[in-house]
Amino acid sequence: MLIAQSEIPLYLLPAMSNRHGLIAGATGTGKTVTLQVMAEAFSRIGVPVFAADVKGDLSGISQPGAESPKIADRVQKLKLTDFSFAGCPVTFWDVFGQEGHPVRATVSEMGPLLLSRLLNLNETQAGVLTAVFKIADDQGLLLLDLKDLQAMLQYAAEHAKELQTQYGNISAASVGAMQRGLLALEQQGADKFLGEPALNLDDLMQTDGQGHGVVNILAADKLVNSPKLYATFLLWLLSELFERLPEVGDVEKPKLVFFFDEAHLLFSDLPKVIEDKVHQVVRLVRSKGVGVFFVTQSPIDVPDGILGQLGNRVQHAVRAFTPKDQKAVKAAAQTFRANPEINVEQVILELGVGEGLVSFLDEKGTPSVVERALVCPPRSQIGPITPAQRQQIIHDSVVAGVYETVVDRESAYERLKARAAQGDSSQPVPSQQPAPKTTPWYGDLASLGTGSTGGRRGDSLIETMAKSAARTLGSTVGRQIVRGVLGSLLGGTRRR
Ligand SMILES: Nc1ncnc2c1ncn2[C@@H]1O[C@H](COP(=O)(O)OP(=O)(O)OP(=O)(O)O)[C@@H](O)[C@H]1O
Ligand SMILES: [Mg+2]
Repeated sequence: MLIAQSEIPLYLLPAMSNRHGLIAGATGTGKTVTLQVMAEAFSRIGVPVFAADVKGDLSGISQPGAESPKIADRVQKLKLTDFSFAGCPVTFWDVFGQEGHPVRATVSEMGPLLLSRLLNLNETQAGVLTAVFKIADDQGLLLLDLKDLQAMLQYAAEHAKELQTQYGNISAASVGAMQRGLLALEQQGADKFLGEPALNLDDLMQTDGQGHGVVNILAADKLVNSPKLYATFLLWLLSELFERLPEVGDVEKPKLVFFFDEAHLLFSDLPKVIEDKVHQVVRLVRSKGVGVFFVTQSPIDVPDGILGQLGNRVQHAVRAFTPKDQKAVKAAAQTFRANPEINVEQVILELGVGEGLVSFLDEKGTPSVVERALVCPPRSQIGPITPAQRQQIIHDSVVAGVYETVVDRESAYERLKARAAQGDSSQPVPSQQPAPKTTPWYGDLASLGTGSTGGRRGDSLIETMAKSAARTLGSTVGRQIVRGVLGSLLGGTRRR
């Protein structure tokens, strides 16, 4: 895939795209357009893409570009003979359900670790949240939406004494902190994000009638105002991809490529435990055929361990004004394989818009020597589309109607309410039940569906429940380990 050109054409190799990448540079230097050019190239070879659109300016990728002197000039400079304008097939998503199809995850899928971060919990409180997940697990109660979690918290608080021996101290203070956190989440609109129908990952991995990969665009302009929600959502998505996709090893072209814009939001004040998991997931998701590209102002925004894994790089101009900028210049210079012709630290300050220092991995996986290059012009429109165009695309999408209506099936909230109505709310503590830990009510169901993402549409309730239980409780060896990686449900501490 031709992405940029110096004296020589610079190709991003599909087979090396699962070795991840980085697009860095100061504001207005061409990061988004570079992302756009790469996403177009992936789409053209049939690779679906997922990208968070922080400024709304990526939506133009859905429309063919238009003649302009700037584009014509670039086409000419780069001597592009087969250049033509074209848009990509696009699906819009939006956590708040306005600028795209709603995208949801269940509380269980989120898991206690990511939720703790969302709720701003300290370690003690996070421990209690994990216990609450286990209680729900042991009692066969599904945690789908915020209501379920609230009901479960209340239940745990009311039965703290009985639950203590098995699950430890569930203090009123910790429960209170979580309840306050949940309230704050609701105010940010996160209640819309937690629930069903949850996102079916298959819907992100589509091609259109011409075999072009669908570019999934997450409207993130509002979402970034809640940086924690933004970061948590993307981390969740990455971990879900990791958990659900089968191992494929090295492939000719990736199954999906992920672009994280404003990546610094992902890592700013990220607790070490989660950073380590992200590190792990980024490393391991490679063998699932997923490529991850971070887009950020400075390479130093990305933790070293993760930065070291980003093989394909485009570094746009940096302005070395602040000490942080100077550090960024140094960092960028150090990470490139040196080219005797280029003084990186110097050039990086002189680069024009849409120009960058480029190094992609070669067939052997070795970074090529760094080149100063012009990035190709995009074939699609630069800048945002109109709201009317967006609504049209949303309306015409193959997933239109699938996610729009919230489904509220029987889960922890309803079950606990029913129990309370029967007046036996204090009775069913797990220690008094016949060994729910080894033979849970869902029996073998939990061994269903490793790697299966489907089943929310057209299944019977039992099937859906079974799959949900399997997804939720994750009991096959594979899932046990992967759940452990993001510590979602079992936190890697308990093995079934
Ligand atoms: N490869 C390119 N071909 C043609 N024009 C380009 C190219 N790259 C950048 N430009 C021009 O530069 C402008 C700014 O680029 P872009 O929006 O990608 O910057 P950015 O680094 O994403 O900025 P920000 O940090 O503000 O998001 C574009 O609107 C476009 O006009
Ligand atoms: Mg941008």
